[in-house]
Amino acid sequence: MEIVDFGGLDPACHADAARILRDALAHLSSAYNAPGEAEAEVALRCADGDWLGFAALEGEQLAGWIGAIRIYSHGWEIHPLVVAPDNQRRGIGSALLAALEARARSEGVLTLFLGSDDDYGGTTLFGRDLWPDAVSHVAATEATAHGHALTFYRRHGYKIVGLLPDVNGAGRPDILLAKRLVEPTTSRSSP
Ligand SMILES: CC(C)(COP(=O)(O)OP(=O)(O)OC[C@H]1O[C@@H](n2cnc3c(N)ncnc32)[C@H](O)[C@@H]1OP(=O)(O)O)[C@@H](O)C(=O)NCCC(=O)NCCS
Repeated sequence: MEIVDFGGLDPACHADAARILRDALAHLSSAYNAPGEAEAEVALRCADGDWLGFAALEGEQLAGWIGAIRIYSHGWEIHPLVVAPDNQRRGIGSALLAALEARARSEGVLTLFLGSDDDYGGTTLFGRDLWPDAVSHVAATEATAHGHALTFYRRHGYKIVGLLPDVNGAGRPDILLAKRLVEPTTSRSSP
């Protein structure tokens, strides 16, 4: 497997990127299911000067891709991260995330963040009324047997930093995750 800059991909790969986006997120009702929606998303990202991405190639075949939007001076939003269903759980998502984190660090980014929806029951937050104190539900949040990308991101050091209740419909939240990329330097005071 080889990780390459998304911007250097042959445009013919863009159709594969759209297919992977659609297939990997098919379990979400907020997925790119409408005709042409995934293709439009790929085109939108490629035309966005604030977006950068990496692709995972198995031979000549696209197996997954990751991107980030430069939203803040020191914070990038990961969007999207998708691995083709028949290539998942083989380390490809981890390799893509590592490439993005390395690039972000090299550009002085301190925080990477993302929103990960649960509109299908992948976490213990699904179906619950998270108001009035949404943040109080964070500590006890776990993935269910359906599985959720939350498990993947936690494994890579991301923490839940917020919840957006009901944004995909009642009881269907978006889960906000973030990771500190650069530890602060510790200063020692002289005795
Ligand atoms: C989440 C995703 C990007 C991870 O990529 P991947 O290549 O499958 O992940 P890796 O092989 O690098 O890492 C695997 C580990 O991540 C975790 N993991 C990955 N997918 C998981 C899932 N669906 N449910 C639970 N844990 C998962 C597990 O800890 C797993 O380790 P294990 O196989 O030993 O149990 C990929 O599964 C995917 O595209 N999922 C669908 C789209 C999606 O949810 N994207 C994120 C939107 S925010």
